[in-house]
Amino acid sequence: MKKYRGIFIKNDAEVNIMRQAGGIVAAILDELEKAVRPGVTTMLFEEMALQLCREFDVKPAFKGYLGYPFALCCSVNEEVVHGFPSQRLLEDGDIVSFDMGVIHRGFFGDSARTVPVGEVSEEVKKLLRVTEESLYAGIEQAKAEANLYDISLAVQKHVEDQGYSVVRRFVGHGIGRHLHEKPEVPNFVPKGAAPVVLKPGMTLAIEPMVTVGGPEVEILSDKWTAVTKDRSLAAHFEHSVVITSDGPKILSQRLEA
Ligand code: MF3
Ligand code: CO
Repeated sequence: MKKYRGIFIKNDAEVNIMRQAGGIVAAILDELEKAVRPGVTTMLFEEMALQLCREFDVKPAFKGYLGYPFALCCSVNEEVVHGFPSQRLLEDGDIVSFDMGVIHRGFFGDSARTVPVGEVSEEVKKLLRVTEESLYAGIEQAKAEANLYDISLAVQKHVEDQGYSVVRRFVGHGIGRHLHEKPEVPNFVPKGAAPVVLKPGMTLAIEPMVTVGGPEVEILSDKWTAVTKDRSLAAHFEHSVVITSDGPKILSQRLEA
């Protein structure tokens, strides 16, 4: 595969496979989202995710990756990312972040979204809205010949203008034949980093993680679950995107049948 400054450039055929992979992730997330209600365990969603992978004939990307034990990341309230599905019951007013990846014909798709459980407060709705908006603000900057950190700046500015924080400990990433490829896609502008020029055929997973309180996280004793240090609520939205000469295109959205 062609590379530009260490970043894999995908050809049209490869991008089409990634669009299929992303379409399947979107379809899985849609099914999970529809099943969200108070009183169900988060393990229900792991079982659904595994079953849907069988139906779509794809491999769950996260299970076994660096030892992660599940197909799905399921993070509730102050859990930011990498939460384990469990017997925990979702309650009215909670938020739950689903992060799902699949491998389809050798390529990865990766997407995440945070969903309200039952009725949530206006403040919680605002957190979800601002986080999703920050993802789209970032995607808008994913243009050929632009600087990668224009994405970071747009995300960070949108979030911080609302008084929220972006998590720094975890970042977005290139995606393709590997879940994590170069470059890292931070949700903040790294100090002193030289510009990284975006080129058509680069494929990025852009994934703002946003907290109501401070940006610091800690990892629970399960070695995976990241929670906000101040236990404030956190949201996470992620899309896989391709840079084209005609602007950014989202790969992790449903393909119309
Ligand atoms: N979307 C996350 C990421 O890009 C999910 C990874 S979970 C892991 O890193 F288990 F695979 F690490
Ligand atoms: Co990701």
